[in-house]
Amino acid sequence: MKAIQVREFGPPEVMQIEDVPTLHAGPGQVVVRVKAAGVNPVDTYMRSGMYARKPNLPWTPGSDAGGELESVGEGVTRVSIGARVYVAGSITGTYAEQALCEEFQVRQLLDTLSFEQGAAIGIPYATAYRALFQRADAASGEWILVHGATGGVGIATVQLAHAAGMRVIGTGGTEKGRALVKEQGADHVLNHHDTNYLDQVQALTGDHGVDVILEMLANVNLDRDFSVLAARGRVVIIGSRGRIEIAPRDIMSRDATVKGMLLTNATKEELSSIHASLQAGFQDGTLVPIVNRQIPLADAPQAHHEVMKPGAYGKIVLKP
Ligand SMILES: NC(=O)c1ccc[n+]([C@@H]2O[C@H](COP(=O)([O-])OP(=O)(O)OC[C@H]3O[C@@H](n4cnc5c(N)ncnc54)[C@H](OP(=O)(O)O)[C@@H]3O)[C@@H](O)[C@H]2O)c1
Repeated sequence: MKAIQVREFGPPEVMQIEDVPTLHAGPGQVVVRVKAAGVNPVDTYMRSGMYARKPNLPWTPGSDAGGELESVGEGVTRVSIGARVYVAGSITGTYAEQALCEEFQVRQLLDTLSFEQGAAIGIPYATAYRALFQRADAASGEWILVHGATGGVGIATVQLAHAAGMRVIGTGGTEKGRALVKEQGADHVLNHHDTNYLDQVQALTGDHGVDVILEMLANVNLDRDFSVLAARGRVVIIGSRGRIEIAPRDIMSRDATVKGMLLTNATKEELSSIHASLQAGFQDGTLVPIVNRQIPLADAPQAHHEVMKPGAYGKIVLKP
């Protein structure tokens, strides 16, 4: 089968498509025929070799996919051969025609969702859910600022927050992206490239401020976030690409809380709970993954360039 292989860390071009041996499921494992693989920013950090988690080489990137179960190992009971599934985590990587997974890493993909939409679920939706409900304890009626709402995690967060009865402000860098965020349920949208765009938050919230901020670029925004945070507000850091100086008094004066989150810290039990909730949302139609671009698997380097460019609009997926 064909798979992307990284033989040395470096720029996107280190990813090459190669013929590799076909996969076989061991006990408790399944092999998925990948129809689409999700591209996440973390794949690019890992490929570069600059990330805390360094995979053994050669390495096939990717943890998300939509596909069909091709074979199952001994003791697998929850899923059967031929089932449509989405992959949220993989032993061998999803930038390939086949992916080997633990049984708990695959879940039923509803007939109403395409394989490409299935590839857009794993990291983005689970991260959004964990940030909102397991870290921020966000509640209906609260004001939520999705700081970076146009990408994979942002769109998922807007849909989840809107469905739960929260009042949502989302930011995006392009008009097209902001229109999408509004369509997905945001009450208000702001341009994070405008000067003083956060000044509008007080007026939009009737001088209350936002109760929760889901932060996609903390190294740029964290210091200013406190200026729009309500008393007892919570900031969850989802993404950060560098350092930033903050004034601790801004946290103190509001009885505020700043929390970090990394999806890979979620326990198996937390992941089960997350995916059970997500499945309910896919079933009732409140959650609808948005796929913007489909790129051939062999052009994975192009996908890694694209995912790091400004102007996000939902997800990029690779097609084997
Ligand atoms: N902690 C975790 O477990 C976890 C899990 C998943 C992702 N992440 C991280 O979370 C971030 C978002 O992931 P993603 O998959 O949604 O990436 P993505 O699809 O590439 O989207 C990136 C988002 O960041 C926005 N952005 C750009 N400049 C910004 C600014 N100045 N202020 C606020 N937002 C800005 C983009 O908006 P425009 O393009 O419209 O400007 C876009 O909405 C990434 O850094 C990723 O590594 C962390």
